[in-house]
Amino acid sequence: MANLNTLDVFFSSQSFHEEELRKKVVVVVDVLRASSTIITALMNHAKGIIPVEDMGEASRISQSVDSENILLCGEKDGVKIEGYDLGNSPFEYSESMIENKTLIFNTTNGTKAIKKAVGASQIYIGSFLNLSTIVHTLKSEEKDIVLVCAGWRGRMAIEDLLFAGNVVYNLSDGALSPEARDGAKVAFGLYDNFRGNLPKVIHSSNHAVRLKNIAGEKDIDYCAQTDICDILPVLNDGIISNLYG
Ligand code: MLT
Repeated sequence: MANLNTLDVFFSSQSFHEEELRKKVVVVVDVLRASSTIITALMNHAKGIIPVEDMGEASRISQSVDSENILLCGEKDGVKIEGYDLGNSPFEYSESMIENKTLIFNTTNGTKAIKKAVGASQIYIGSFLNLSTIVHTLKSEEKDIVLVCAGWRGRMAIEDLLFAGNVVYNLSDGALSPEARDGAKVAFGLYDNFRGNLPKVIHSSNHAVRLKNIAGEKDIDYCAQTDICDILPVLNDGIISNLYG
């Protein structure tokens, strides 16, 4: 059973030091859209996803591997990077496009948060799309747990914090103990306040407003769905794959 007194939530990838994740189980959250796209890619049978820090790392890795089954994927400020095969819309990651391919994945905040968490003892990737699978996995966890929200350029993003709050709420059966960590309390309270209205709140988030001009509404509608799959993305040796795959 997860120990809720050691369950914490960090609000952005710049709100913690790497050492704070040592020996902990981490769930990295970027609802719009990196986490949701990673989950979708694994649902559609990508072989693996290599998260990278920046374009330099992406091109170094792409030059050092057999290019036939590799795709360069990602965005900068929401827009597909020039010369890349795919951007960051989950709709680009269809089975016909990515089955059995390894994806080098480079995004503005999500992959940077994953890279910053590499010192943790286990790293999962979560979004509303696989919420119950994440909750189920954390329930049997005995180590300390941290939900790392990717946020946007060091700031909090409400959709990430809502997901973290949903996880905290479900793990605590809707009754958080007064001894819970401050980050968990804030996420719980936010989720409790908005839980009847999640898609609407996600649609009015700062990043959704930004994305509507770039990708339209459909990515946001898609990422705001809960429990469409039981994919559990886990990072091992620098590659994300589905633990249950
Ligand atoms: C990110 O990593 O910042 C996001 O996934 C941006 C996006 O929506 O493409």
